Order: sequence, then C-alpha cells, then structure tokens
Amino acid sequence: MPLGVFDSGIGGLTVVRSLRVAFPKRDILYVGDTARVPYGNKSPETVRSYSREIISFLKAQGADRMVVACNTASALAVESLRPGVGVPLHGMIESGVAAALAASAEGPVGVIGTSATIASGAYQQALAKERPGWKVFARATPLLVPLVEEGWLDGEVTEKVVREYLQPLMKEKIRVLVLACTHYPLLKGVLAKVLGPGVKLVDSSEACADSMRASENGIQEKGRLKIFLTDEPGPFLGRVEGFLGKGTVDSVERIQLVSQA
Ligand code: DGL
Repeated sequence: MPLGVFDSGIGGLTVVRSLRVAFPKRDILYVGDTARVPYGNKSPETVRSYSREIISFLKAQGADRMVVACNTASALAVESLRPGVGVPLHGMIESGVAAALAASAEGPVGVIGTSATIASGAYQQALAKERPGWKVFARATPLLVPLVEEGWLDGEVTEKVVREYLQPLMKEKIRVLVLACTHYPLLKGVLAKVLGPGVKLVDSSEACADSMRASENGIQEKGRLKIFLTDEPGPFLGRVEGFLGKGTVDSVERIQLVSQA
C-alpha cells in the first residue's frame, strides 16, 4: 500500500526526500496542487476544502497512510479533517514541535512560516502546551517561498531578506528556529550563516519522517515515487528533482481534483 503525501505545490518534495530515507521500500504517491499554490495566503476554509479534495484523491489511489507535507495545510486543516479520513493522517506540527523540544533544553524558540501558518497560532499553541515556560517568537516570512522557487538559495539578495526577517528573533536571542514551511529546508545554508552557530535549525520535514519511522517497519522491496500535479510542472520541479537525486521520480502525471463540497 502506498504512502500518500501532499503539498500546495512542489516544495513538499523536501518532505518526500526525508520520507524516502526513512521508508526506502515504501511506494509514495505525491500530490502537488500546483494549479492553486500558494496556500500560505489563503483562508482556513479554502485550505481545508483543497486538502479534502486531495485526501479523497489519495484514498482513491489506495494510500493507507497520509502525510500533509504542507505546513499551512497542517496548521489549518489536519485537526479538523483527521477524524473523517479513515487512515492515519500526519501533519507537520506535532513532529516539528517535538524536534524543537529535543533540540534544546531551553527557549526562547523562533518559528518561521507562511502568513497563514503563523496567523493560525498552531505552532505557538503546541509549543506553549508542551513547554509553558518557553517564550515563542513567530514570524511570517512569505518572501522566502518565491525566492526558493526562483532557485535563489543563497547570495546577497536572499541573505538580506533572511537577515531582515530574522533580526527581531535574533534580538530575542532564540536558541532554536523551527522551519515551518516546505521550502525552507532549501535555505538552511543561508539561515545558518545569518543566525550563527548558537541557534539550532529544526527541519520539520526530517522531524516528520523520523517520528513516523518509529511506528513502521518491515515493508516490501524498493519503493517508487509517483508525482501528481494539478497544473503543468514548472522549472521548480526540475530544481527539486535535483535535490531529490537523479532517477528518483518514477512518473509525473497531471490530474484533475474533484470538489468534495
Ligand atoms: N507548502 C507551503 C507550506 O509549507 C508553502 C507554500 C504555500 O504557501 O503554499 O506552508
């Protein structure tokens, strides 16, 4: 049975990379809603309705477990949709928070994500619940997504934007920074450069795969990766395929989702 993974676009392939390391023998079906990306500036109702359509598609394809690789959909939709899905549905928040707690014995902690993820307060609330004493400084950093999609993973402009966004968190002397967006693992180099060695970066894609690995073992031979997109693949797919490793994608297919309203 395949593992279903979805994201608003191509960025969730960063999560697939971690999942393929954790579950090398699992087939993975990935849906990237490239026709409707970004989710990060949309309302909770819209993101929930899009997520419902994708979950229904993945269920029809036989997925027996699903990962919502998109942090925005994890923050806005996972909790409300989980009871009706019928198979385990993993979001990015619980594992990201657990990894932040494991990374440092003390706060303060910073969280960066899309405007919708930060406005939802999902990470802030989950962190406050687990570590009531910790100060959490959350910041929406929406310009980082287009920079990554353009392939501007380092260089003067990207570093300037990152520095501008992180300045207030650095002033608060954060110890840990949670990368609460699919795209941000691709910026780890510049984030580490700007923050310096005293701040630990929590990659929510790795954290999610690690937390799932603990509950699954002994599956078949070599897993395949099939990608389904709701629009034509743009140049960003090629860039992320490079990041995944040559020859890892078995097929890319265009699909039409069905409204579940
Ligand atoms: N995939 C989204 C996330 O992780 C980022 C891109 C978007 O805004 O849709 O929050």
